[in-house]
Amino acid sequence: MPVSKTVRDALEGSSMIRRLFEEGAELKKIHSAVFDFSLGNPDLDPPEAFYRTLNELAREKVKGSHGYMSNAGFFETRAALAKKASRDQECEIPASNIIMSAGAAGALNVIFKSILDAGDEVIVPKPYFMEYRSYVSNHGGKIVEVSTKEDFSLDLEKIENAFGGKTKAVLINSPNNPTGSVYPRADMEKLGALLKQRGAKTKNYPYLVADEPYREIVYSGVSVPSVFNAYSEAVVATSFSKSLSLPGERIGYIAVHPGIQNSEETLAALVYATRVLGFVNAPALMQRIVAKLTAERVAVEVYESRRNAFMNVLDSVSMSYARSGGAFYVFAKVPARKDGSSDDREFSACLKKHLILGVPGSGFGAPGWIRFAYCVDENIITGSAPAFRAALAEWTG
Ligand SMILES: Cc1ncc(COP(=O)(O)O)c(C=O)c1O
Repeated sequence: MPVSKTVRDALEGSSMIRRLFEEGAELKKIHSAVFDFSLGNPDLDPPEAFYRTLNELAREKVKGSHGYMSNAGFFETRAALAKKASRDQECEIPASNIIMSAGAAGALNVIFKSILDAGDEVIVPKPYFMEYRSYVSNHGGKIVEVSTKEDFSLDLEKIENAFGGKTKAVLINSPNNPTGSVYPRADMEKLGALLKQRGAKTKNYPYLVADEPYREIVYSGVSVPSVFNAYSEAVVATSFSKSLSLPGERIGYIAVHPGIQNSEETLAALVYATRVLGFVNAPALMQRIVAKLTAERVAVEVYESRRNAFMNVLDSVSMSYARSGGAFYVFAKVPARKDGSSDDREFSACLKKHLILGVPGSGFGAPGWIRFAYCVDENIITGSAPAFRAALAEWTG
């Protein structure tokens, strides 16, 4: 029996990254030096406090600590994370408004399961993390892509023009994968004002869903503004995948604005969705650990140094790129060939011949761009300069 048509189509659509991953693995079997910038898999170690706490908790024998619990998570964890979310979002968030999740991906699926009916639309500025398409379509929704400005900041006019009778939510991601952009406070306020205006006009306030797994990965002088200050029909999905380098542990949470309309029903829906999507609850041991690590994060300065090294490499071959304030990606513009073409898939294939792996921007809705993830040792970044030079020489002829 064949798999479903929906999934077959989705597999076709996502085959580019999978192929790149497989080809990268093949290349590594043959060559000792492969410059693999394809995957956003954090390579920094979790903070020492993580291992210490893990050891301490492993020795403790507390009744019920490995059992079923409220689907929203342990109350003590939710209370600790409510304090952290209150600091991040600059407003008082009660523990009841924190729902523990299986990473940010689990959080987004729970949110979309809770808010979408068949045919509902979610407006997403592009480029965007390609899994969003599935997270929305999993629950009957449809993504409506809107362009961003040249510097990848929000284009409010485009968002306004995308509003329609089926609009249920706007989904944003800052710091952004793939561009590294951080939306400034003024833009968040303007977005909030636009959503309020839309709600007042239609008597239906769209949700603002903010995907924030990179909130802690920001560099000198950059901070991520509060979403909740800008708009109250807002929910944040986040995780410890990047901030503590724990993506394999599947731990994150949803924070719900304390002033959201239909608060009781919204929270009940999120708890229900957590259960029936089969998560039941977020991993118990990890919940107990992250509650104790709210002041910890990975060595962000290492990512910043790598970002600078990557920019130096791209500068040295005269490639232009988006100015990144956070996350661990450099989004670079594909240089034009002699005939003026700048196909990102062909460019990625050309780089691969020189053992450099990057993900074509088409996969994120941004043809003509390429994403490099710097979750690798800085020596690999600096060592890639000659390979970039050779690839560019071949590319531009
Ligand atoms: C923008 C974005 N959102 C969500 C996720 C999923 O994060 P998690 O591993 O916490 O589920 C990722 C993972 O790379 C991401 O880049």
